[in-house]
Parts: sequence; C-alpha cells; structure tokens
Amino acid sequence: MTIQHVSVPVGAVTETLSERALTFAGNPLFGGDRHVLHGPNPYRRMLAPETLPEIDFARALTARDWATYRSLGAHRLLGTFYEAETVLLPEQGLTELRGDFDEFYGTRLRHLREATISDLERFAFDCLADEVDVSGNCTVDVLDAYFQHVTDESEQGESPALNAIAAARRPEVAADTYLVQLALDGLTEASAMSRNLAGAYGPEQSALFKIFIDEFGYGVYDTKHTTIFAKMLRSRAMATHVHAYWNFYLSGPLATNNFYYYLSRDHAKFFRYAGAVTYAEAVFAPAFVKMIKVYREIFGDDVDLHYCDEHAHIDEHHGRITREQVLLALAEKHGPGVVPELMRGIAEARLVGGWFEEDTAAQIRWADDIPRHRELAAAASTGEPRSVRANADGPFGTRSHDGAVVLALDAGEADLVTSATGEPERLVRGDAVLIPAGRVYGIKAVSPECRYLLHPVVDEPTT
Ligand SMILES: [Fe+2]
Ligand SMILES: [Fe+2]
Repeated sequence: MTIQHVSVPVGAVTETLSERALTFAGNPLFGGDRHVLHGPNPYRRMLAPETLPEIDFARALTARDWATYRSLGAHRLLGTFYEAETVLLPEQGLTELRGDFDEFYGTRLRHLREATISDLERFAFDCLADEVDVSGNCTVDVLDAYFQHVTDESEQGESPALNAIAAARRPEVAADTYLVQLALDGLTEASAMSRNLAGAYGPEQSALFKIFIDEFGYGVYDTKHTTIFAKMLRSRAMATHVHAYWNFYLSGPLATNNFYYYLSRDHAKFFRYAGAVTYAEAVFAPAFVKMIKVYREIFGDDVDLHYCDEHAHIDEHHGRITREQVLLALAEKHGPGVVPELMRGIAEARLVGGWFEEDTAAQIRWADDIPRHRELAAAASTGEPRSVRANADGPFGTRSHDGAVVLALDAGEADLVTSATGEPERLVRGDAVLIPAGRVYGIKAVSPECRYLLHPVVDEPTT
C-alpha cells in the first residue's frame, strides 16, 4: 500500500479560525515588549499570543460573553485587522519603523487577515442576531418612535461608568480609565464612517459627509476631533499616540469600536450602519454633558474639556442631521423593506454601547478596591491551580479570565497592574487577590523572576 502525501499550502482555507488567529498573533509585531504602555509605533500591539490557545474559536461568543477573555482576545485581533485597512503613520516619521510598516501592511499578514476576518466577525458578532428582534410592524413612524424612545431613555438614564468614577476612592485614576477607553476611538475618530462615504446614494450621502467633515475639523488639523481629543489627554499628562494604552482597552469598548467597522466593511449592512450611527450621534451630546459635569467636579479647571464641549454642542446638530437626513430619509426613500435593518442598527448600537459602559464601570470599581479583593481571595473556594512565570525583562501583557480566579504570588515579587495611570499593587510571596471574571490585569515582575498561581474560583464570595 502506498500513502500519498498531499501538501497543503500555508494559509490554506483548510486551517481553522483558531490556527489562523494564532499564526497572525504569532507575528513578532504582536508579541509585546517589557513596557506597560506601548511606544509610538502604531504597528506593534500586544496580542498575548501565548494565551490565545485558551480561546475556543469554534464556539461563537454570545451576547453575555462581552466580559470574557474569549471576547477580549478576539476583539483585539479584530480591531487590529480593521485598523490595518486604515492608514496609520507615526508622528515622529517612518524612518525607524519602515520595517514594521512593511510587515504590518505586507502581503503575508494581509493574506492572513483576508482569510480570517469574515470567520472572526461571525465569531464576534453573530450573537447580535439572537439579541435583537425587529419583527412586527416596521413603518417609518414606528422607526421614529423607537428612535425617540431609546435616545430619550439614554439622555435621562445614568451612565454606569461616570457613576463609578464619581464614587471612586481615587476618582482621578478612574477618570483616566474612562479616557483610555475613549482613546480607542478618539485617536482614530470617524475611521469606520469613512468607509460609508464612497459610492452614489443621493442626499443621504451628502448628509453623512457633512458629519464626517465636521469630525475632521473642516480640513483644519487643529480642530480635528482627534487633535482636540489628544489635547484632553495631554492635560492629564497622558500619552497621545496610537495606541499607547492598548494593554488597557477593555473588551466592551473594543467590541463597541469594532462594531462600527463591522457594519462599515460590508455594505450589505449599510442600513444597519445608518441606524447605528444615528443612534450614536444622538446619544453623544447628552453623554458628554454628563461627562463634563463629572470631570469638572474632579479636576476643576485642570483638565482640557474642549473635546467634550465640542461634542456636547456639535453632536446635538449631528443627531438632528442623522435622524432627519439619513435615518428617516433612507426609510422614506427605500421603503418598508429597509426599516427593520435601520431599527436593528439602532438596537445593536444601544446594546454594544451598554457593554462599553458596564465593562468600564466594572473595571473602575475593581481597580479602585484591590484591598477588598485581597480579603475576598481569602474567602473564595478554589479549584486546581495552574502556575505562570514572569520575568522582569519579559514582555508585558494584560488579560482577563472567563470566570473569576484567585491570583496568588508564589515566588518573587510583582506588581499587579489594573489601570493605566494608577499606582500598581505590589504583591509579595503569599499575597492573593480575587480577579473577578472579565477584569483586565497584568503582572509585572519586580524581582528578576516571579511565579504565581491562578486558582479558578468555584464558589465566589459576594462582593
Ligand atoms: Fe467627533
Ligand atoms: Fe459627531
């Protein structure tokens, strides 16, 4: 009997999503370095490749999975894929980074992205279909009534993240954590929107373009929204390059940012995008009014809130334009067949916006009260641990876990890093901290080497 060997070319579609994701993340651009913040190099971002085999990519995320490591790992990858379709150049020029630029945009990674992105999108966003039900009578009036209802609800409702900041023991750190989440979009603002500008779709296209050009400061760099966002970061002595705070982006905000790219990449989803962007523009203005109030109470005049003032003002206008000249205009012109998709976009934007808020609030509350989570670690019942080693010179990365764990330092000394600007929590041998499901943290060895145990929590004490 003879055995015939069939060679399978690298990158062939027979590979699983998991294998393709691992190959992509295994590129040296994505292995991190020893620094907690990323340097001014938009092509390098830590994808924590050694932890990705934990993720079962064969089982899609559900809408309840937004605060899991499965979600964090997948959305970091997906966000990197989307941004590779935009032009990123470092402020200091390309001289030193030409090799990284060539690799990031090069054929090898491009082929991998193209072979992977649709499957990864299905993994990350198929769950939206189960959560949003737009069956029933979908007339233009129903659409408008629904839109008014959800935007009124958002305006009158509370922001869990801002409430968490106001209640924090260290409100400055909590406020910075919120800025970090906003930086994900704030430093590349309107990139997803730009993908909906090409083509020919009448006055609605011009209405969207009017919003787009406002986001770009009408062509004046100093008034571009990303520029004034950077000013706000600078007033807090925070880094302004893309993506200094990569390690601190949470899965909820990453999913929210990716959602707009997801709807914008495939124009079969154009009407969903139109619904989503209308919702977003309408809820931004009142959200920034609330943010200004909280930040002024904490920082007085020591923070530059021009970005928030600008949005509190201009998004009132954008909310009106998108409702009248995009959402309702598209519904009138293209008929009842598109109304369910417009409604779906609104409902999905509302849902993922909730993930952004809840995740940020939960991270703020946890990072603000580590002493309490030391006590909870002692009270938790745990299962069989696994051991992890870290070197002081090794790459720094952050992660979360799908379920709660107790992290116990077993050898050496280390810093538990839970926020971008707060003091890390020093852990010595014997120290243990409860890390609730979904909370993002990193361990930075202070001694040349450290070792810690991760005990899965079987029975979590009430927090
Ligand atoms: Fe803006
Ligand atoms: Fe806007």
